[in-house]
Amino acid sequence: MASHLLRRALGSRSTQFLSGAAKPSPSLLSSSSPSSQAARVFSSDSTPIRATLFPGDGIGPEIAESVKQVFREAEVPIEWEEHYVGDQIDPRTQSFLTWESLESVRKNRVGLKGPMATPIGKGHRSLNLTLRKELNLYANVRPCYSLPGYKTRYDDVNLITIRENTEGEYSGLEHQVVRGVVESLKIITRQASLRVAEYAFHYAKTHGRERVSAIHKANIMQKTDGLFLKCCREVAEKYPDIKYEEVVIDNCCMMLVKNPALFDVLVMPNLYGDIISDLCAGLIGGLGLTPSCNIGEGGIALAEAVHGSAPDIAGKNLANPTALLLSSVTMLRHLELHDKADRIQNAILSTIAEGKFRTADLGGASSTSDFTKAICDHL
Ligand code: NAI
Repeated sequence: MASHLLRRALGSRSTQFLSGAAKPSPSLLSSSSPSSQAARVFSSDSTPIRATLFPGDGIGPEIAESVKQVFREAEVPIEWEEHYVGDQIDPRTQSFLTWESLESVRKNRVGLKGPMATPIGKGHRSLNLTLRKELNLYANVRPCYSLPGYKTRYDDVNLITIRENTEGEYSGLEHQVVRGVVESLKIITRQASLRVAEYAFHYAKTHGRERVSAIHKANIMQKTDGLFLKCCREVAEKYPDIKYEEVVIDNCCMMLVKNPALFDVLVMPNLYGDIISDLCAGLIGGLGLTPSCNIGEGGIALAEAVHGSAPDIAGKNLANPTALLLSSVTMLRHLELHDKADRIQNAILSTIAEGKFRTADLGGASSTSDFTKAICDHL
């Protein structure tokens, strides 16, 4: 069982070659996604690749430092272009993100992002929303699988959530109708729904996955979620080899908690994706372990840890860098640097499985820097 899990988790190309399994492991976003075709041009052994790095807020700089250290140790040919969130609103972006930082991602077309804090109810445009909108990062992909050697209630989680990232309830269109009554607009468009559905089915096909489940509440939101489902059905017809099903969001939550092995690839509108992907992170041990990657049009990929800036532990050398490190592995796969990606992924998983060095969120007592050093020692 352990070796099965290890192979599944280490996965990627080697698992597929070894087992030819119908449902190989999530390869942490291996490169056969539509947009990553464009990433092939990045692959080169000799010249360093420029990538944008947003260390972010709170624990962000500490865990970004871990990534830099592991990359140095593994001799990954990446040159980071670091950008910090500004302390003044940049009128060109209407947010604390500078225009230069967005230009950096547009130019490099690949990047890694730490968590960014958004003050609640202060009227600022969310930094994450700004990034997604400005860079048209339309799909958020989160591989979620049980980590070998790290026991949770479930030992057979192996699913991918694909979240529409640009619209729905996150369109930022809220206003007061009259005093005491506010309104928020949920926008669903055919274009964005088709785009994310296409991504999900293509992902399933190219990763040997068998099923795509569209998650919705179309029984209540008949027009908005109804359109989302219609688009998913249209795309499903083009992929007769992939099973397609529709699951109501509340039922989906119950099924996930009861038996996560029921699911394979899940595609859903923005808000449901936000909630379900965190639920899935909980199935495998928490936010500190879960990577993600945002896919944009024209081959842009911005990998990011799914957790927030964890202000309660910021600056204390306590943060678990695993989520950002595994996100950086998705970035390497997007760049087709599979050898480096495999090496780093194996070192992270071996360190966790060995159990000698674990951060407090995983029940250990190691600092961020000791855990990072242990990963470097496993490289
Ligand atoms: P959070 O994810 O920052 O923290 C929730 C809990 O998980 C805290 O107890 C924290 O200590 C723990 N935690 C999170 N990441 C961890 C890690 N790597 N290692 C160990 N423990 C970890 O969520 P919260 O408190 O709701 O948000 C704090 C700030 O982060 C807010 O300003 C929020 O807007 C922002 N945020 C940013 C995100 C992003 O940039 N993608 C995502 C979620 C929240």
